Amino acid sequence: MSRRPRVAVVGSANIDLTTFADRFPNAGETIFGQRFDLGFGGKGANQAVAGRLCGADVFMVARVGSDLFGPATIENFEKLGIDTTHVKQVEGWSSGVAPIFVEPNGQNRILVVKGANDALKPADVDAAAEMLKSTDCIVLQFEIPLETVYYTVAFARKHGIRCILNPAPGQPVDMGALASLDYFVPNESEAESITGIAVRNVDDARKCANKLLNEGIHRVIITLGAKGSLLASRAASEHVPAFAVKSVDSTGAGDAFIGSFAVFLAEGVPEPEAVRRANLYAGLSTTGVGTQKSFYDRARFDSEWNVRSKELSAAKR
Ligand code: RIB
Repeated sequence: MSRRPRVAVVGSANIDLTTFADRFPNAGETIFGQRFDLGFGGKGANQAVAGRLCGADVFMVARVGSDLFGPATIENFEKLGIDTTHVKQVEGWSSGVAPIFVEPNGQNRILVVKGANDALKPADVDAAAEMLKSTDCIVLQFEIPLETVYYTVAFARKHGIRCILNPAPGQPVDMGALASLDYFVPNESEAESITGIAVRNVDDARKCANKLLNEGIHRVIITLGAKGSLLASRAASEHVPAFAVKSVDSTGAGDAFIGSFAVFLAEGVPEPEAVRRANLYAGLSTTGVGTQKSFYDRARFDSEWNVRSKELSAAKR
């Protein structure tokens, strides 16, 4: 592709309040945590930042609160070169926030208070229609009203724009409204909460993906953390293993996967390789603390990819 990929994210922006602790307090108990980190997050914003750092022109459609965090969030997007024409502050609403707890092994637990993200409505998608029609891909998550997600999926189908949905946080959905999606990308727990099938291994992921494909979705990618990802269509499925990394904080790894995957696909990278690259991009993001601040830029990613992909080819020989 001669021009840069153009990716739009219709989604959330939060402020992440991350606490690192050896364990979690029991009811009524107070304990000391080890470390605290304040950062820009939100699944939509994280995916936008990953896409931008991977080299795309990125356009954000979002709502932030009329508090301290709102202008800071917009400024953060602008500093990174993300278009904020369709990011607006909503009077009287708080910004989305996410208290996050990280265990010593890097595993996280997240509580999201959506705040102004809930004010993003189908009319806001209409207001961004001309910009959205100019993009290669629209990326969505579930931290905004579901009616807006369904509306945007239909908009993408009508205009022939590739659409990737990260159904996070997992919640009951109208699968009929999502049937025209190009890619449905849950992690294990999201896949389970939507299909009712527990995903403990690759075989479970296959069963789960089949159920989703039978609902009419074109392609399902279930991200499996350290086990990599399962890429499935009605014709075939492929388990794409992860790369080994020393993980300290897995928060935002799924977002890193989706934002980078959207860019690799738009660049014309074949699907399984785009998944392989996105697996590495996501894995690398877990080697640093926080969400957006742990994401690699393209030059750092490419040099790591060159080394890792050569090792992979040598191992296959
Ligand atoms: O996926 C990680 C993100 O989930 C965090 O940044 C937090 O804000 C929540 O949206």
